[in-house]
Amino acid sequence: MDKVILTGDRPTGRLHIGHYVGSLRSRVELQNKGDYDKFYIMIADVQALTDNWDNPEKVRQNIIEVALDYLSVGIDPSKVTIFIQSGVKGLYQLTCFYMDVVTLARLERNPTIKSELKMRNFGESIPVGFLTYPISQAADITGFDATVIPVGDDQLPMIEQTREIVRSINNIYGDTLYEPKAVLPENEACRRLPGTDGDAKMSKSLGNCIYLADDEETIKKKVMSMYTDPNHIRIEDPGKVEGNTVFTYLDAFVKEDSFEKYLPEFKNLDELKAKYQQGGLGDVKIKKFLFEVLNEELAPVREKRKYYEEHIDEVIAILKKGTEEASAHCDQVVDRLRRNMKINYFDNDDIASNYR
Ligand code: TRP
Repeated sequence: MDKVILTGDRPTGRLHIGHYVGSLRSRVELQNKGDYDKFYIMIADVQALTDNWDNPEKVRQNIIEVALDYLSVGIDPSKVTIFIQSGVKGLYQLTCFYMDVVTLARLERNPTIKSELKMRNFGESIPVGFLTYPISQAADITGFDATVIPVGDDQLPMIEQTREIVRSINNIYGDTLYEPKAVLPENEACRRLPGTDGDAKMSKSLGNCIYLADDEETIKKKVMSMYTDPNHIRIEDPGKVEGNTVFTYLDAFVKEDSFEKYLPEFKNLDELKAKYQQGGLGDVKIKKFLFEVLNEELAPVREKRKYYEEHIDEVIAILKKGTEEASAHCDQVVDRLRRNMKINYFDNDDIASNYR
C-alpha cells in the first residue's frame, strides 16, 4: 500500500499564522522528510461554496491567495500536488455513492457541523450541501487513497466520519477504500493559536489575525497591541503566563537560537516565563522579542510570495497540472469502486447474464 498524505483548506480568505503553526509548517516538514509516495494539498472550493454559495467571487479570488500562501511557505510543487477540488470530477461520484451509507442523524451528530450550524444561524434553512459536506470531505480523502491527514483538531470529527464511511463501503462492496488517520501538531500551543486579542479563535471576522502576507510594519503593530495579562500593569507586578497570548505565541514560534539572537539575557522560554511570573518584566519587552521571532520566520515567506505574485502564470500552471494529476488518481479510485459495486455495466460486468 502506498503512503498518501492529503490535506486541504477552504479558500475563503488569506491564510494566517494560526494555519501556519497548526498545519502549513508541518506540511513543509513532511514534504522535506520525503517519507511518502504521494502528497496532495487540496484547495477546497466546493466545500467553501457550501456556506458561501451567495458569494462565489470571494471563493474564486481566494483560490489564488491560498495557492500563493502555500507556495510562499515553501510547499514545493515538484514534491507536492496542489490542486483545486472542483476540477476533480470523480469526487462528485464518490460523494454521491457515500451519501447512501450516511444517515441524516449521523450528520447532525457531527460535533464540527453542530458548532458550525450554531455559529451560522441557518435556523430552519440549513443548506443540504452544507450539512453533507463531511460526506464530500470523505470523498476528498478516499478519492486519492489517502491515509495520513495532517489537520487541526476541529477536523477530527470529519476524519472519524470518513473512517465510518470507508468501513460501510468496504463491508458492502468488499475492500475498496483505505481508512485514514488524522495527524495533529505535537506542540499544544500550535493546535489552536488564539487571536491577537486573546479570543480562543483566530478568525478573519473577528479581525484578530496576523496574515502570512502581512508586511513587517503591520506585524509589528499587531504584536505591540496584543492581549497579555490585563492585571499586569506595572513592570514590577507579577504577571500571568497562562492565557497570555504573547506567551502562547512564543510557545508556538520560539526556536532553539531565538534567545541567543534576540534576547540573550534569558536562556530559554522557561526562564522568561519565570521572570514574568515573578515580576520585573514588561510587556513591551516580550512583545518586541515576539516580533523579532515572528518576523524572522515570516520574512522569507513574504519574499517567496513576492516572487510568485510576479510570476502568477507559474502559479496557474502549477494548479492546472496538479488538478490534472489529482483527477487521474481519483478516476482510478472511482473505477475501482464502480467495479466493486458492479455498476460498470458496459465493461465486463454483464448485466444481462441471466438471459444468456
Ligand atoms: N474541512 C477543511 C477545513 O475546513 C478543509 C478540507 C476539505 C480538508 N477537504 C479536506 C482537510 C480533506 C483535510 C482533508 O479546513
